[in-house]
Amino acid sequence: MSSRTSTAVLARGLRVLGRAIREQPRIFTVAVAGSVLFGAMVIGSAYVIGAVVGDVVVPSIARGSVETGVLALAAAALFGISLLRVVGIFGRRLGAGYMQYRLQASYRRRVTRRYLDLPLSWHQRHATGTLLSNANSDVEAAWYPIAPLPFAVGTLVMVAGAIVALFATDWAFALVGLAVFPALFTLNVVYSRRMAPRQARAQQLRAEVSGIAHESFDGALVVKTMGREAQETRRFASRAAELRDALIAVGRLRGLFDPLLETLPSIGTLAVLVVGAIRLRQDAITVAELVSVAFLFTVLAVPVRAIGWVLAELPRSVAGWDRVQQVLRATGEMAYGDRVLDPAGGPATLAFADVSFRYEPAEAHLPGAEVLGAVTFTVPAGRTVALVGPTGAGKSTIAALAVRLVDPDTGTVALDGVDLRELTTASLAGNVALVAQVPFVFDDTVRGNITLDRPGISDDDAWAALRLAEADGFVAALPDGLDTRVGERGTSLSGGQRQRLTLARALAGRPRLLVLDDATSAVDPRVEAAILAGLRSSATDGTGAGTSILVVAYRRATIALADEVIYVEQGRVVARGTHAELLATVPGYVDLVTAYEQAEAEREQARTYEDPPVVPVTTGLEVEMDR
Ligand SMILES: Nc1ncnc2c1ncn2[C@@H]1O[C@H](COP(=O)(O)OP(=O)(O)OP(=O)(O)O)[C@@H](O)[C@H]1O
Ligand SMILES: [Mg+2]
Repeated sequence: MSSRTSTAVLARGLRVLGRAIREQPRIFTVAVAGSVLFGAMVIGSAYVIGAVVGDVVVPSIARGSVETGVLALAAAALFGISLLRVVGIFGRRLGAGYMQYRLQASYRRRVTRRYLDLPLSWHQRHATGTLLSNANSDVEAAWYPIAPLPFAVGTLVMVAGAIVALFATDWAFALVGLAVFPALFTLNVVYSRRMAPRQARAQQLRAEVSGIAHESFDGALVVKTMGREAQETRRFASRAAELRDALIAVGRLRGLFDPLLETLPSIGTLAVLVVGAIRLRQDAITVAELVSVAFLFTVLAVPVRAIGWVLAELPRSVAGWDRVQQVLRATGEMAYGDRVLDPAGGPATLAFADVSFRYEPAEAHLPGAEVLGAVTFTVPAGRTVALVGPTGAGKSTIAALAVRLVDPDTGTVALDGVDLRELTTASLAGNVALVAQVPFVFDDTVRGNITLDRPGISDDDAWAALRLAEADGFVAALPDGLDTRVGERGTSLSGGQRQRLTLARALAGRPRLLVLDDATSAVDPRVEAAILAGLRSSATDGTGAGTSILVVAYRRATIALADEVIYVEQGRVVARGTHAELLATVPGYVDLVTAYEQAEAEREQARTYEDPPVVPVTTGLEVEMDR
């Protein structure tokens, strides 16, 4: 990094600090006030010590006796000064800590809030490890220099005060001060400039190491089954070694500059003693003044370092800040309207009208391929519509559009005649529910996973939802029923149990439109059909409850339950009608359904010969096997 860019980094770092001060002005004032009080007391103590030596110690030595009254007075003054110094340190430390941790908390909140606002397409482009490090180590890095900042600002005031005091004492001392302080300052700047690229590199490597770690733990199953432990460990080790080297480079530089920064004030003290001896002989100064100034240089050494600490942390702070800003400035979040639908209005009508959609390409300059084109269909209120099509046809994309995870490029998706884009977030969440292809279970209790803290879902409601999802049996058999914790991502549940739990979660919110994206694939086919049959009959039992259903399905028994089947191929609706009609008229449909059926039969067969699956929660197993 050239010195011009590192100067730019320093300037930007100071702007980041300015921002921190603007965000926490009061607490910053308290911290700086503490620091200035401390500085004033340091200068004060130098002059009191000087006075004690000049007015008490020297005369006592000359006279051979000690004046206890004056000595007691000096002791009291020093004690008072020390007390004020303690108050100053306390105020500074407390203020700096408050400021640093408040900023960290506030920015962590902002970053994670932003993650939730950003669209799915943004998340697909960013690795989870990076997101974690943005919210953690980058936020921390951005506000590292806040800890020594009040000390440094107070020190600047103190150095200014010291120079004034030097001028007031004697011009010769002032000259020493004018030589030493700027030299100290320059050394600090050189130090932080050389530190800048090293710190930035270390911060980048921190993110990369955390990214690799996250990926290999997340993919632990693949890593283990494919025997990739050694390679993964090596991949991690080489990046960890780079981080180590980067941090050692930081440490080496610190090791080089620290002694220099320590030595300069000592050289200053030495210069003061030499100059002072001459001036004393000329009777230009008193012993008291000489002692004061020499002492001043000694005690100033540490505080001046605080300026260096801030400057040295600035590059890292800028690196962290930039990475945080990339998240905060990212755009593409969805705008919501202000229309509301009656959540108790019974099953809703979903209408796709001439919808086309393309995913954002991985590289911005490439055109994205069209995934859906001219898709038009309706799910009438209370009806069940099955979405059938080969893999990659666009079924999951239609499901995502139906619950507004993404917006169409052209055309509209409407619920009860209202464009989904006009609904409020709450109304959208209250009216539609998606059970995704890959179930997500929180590390919480069964109850927590069903209610997700939504108000008004009683235990009875939870059980009713579990019954509809055919999950009441296994939940009842869990050791603590609804209170059983399911482990991270539901690791203590089987795949089919997890799917049914997420289905129960969707049902507990009493959605008016339920979108099932292959949501019961891991469930036994008979149970899957039973679930759908239960959902359908609850929609048509005339109680006004129930839901319209759009279901991505593969199995004949499930598809046959639908009122209508929409057959999609390559993002287009190729045919629609009842299952029987499509079987009779669409050759592609026949092939697909038959192929699924065969695959299913083979799986069934394989299952009979295999050992029973190992399910960690043994109490749930018997119930599972009974089905
Ligand atoms: N995030 C994405 N970015 C880019 N392209 C995507 C993305 N997700 C899906 N696609 C592409 O869009 C097309 C439709 O995908 P979609 O997931 O909707 O298919 P699907 O019918 O649900 O398939 P499956 O039966 O395998 O679940 C595919 O060609 C896929 O490659
Ligand atoms: Mg899919």
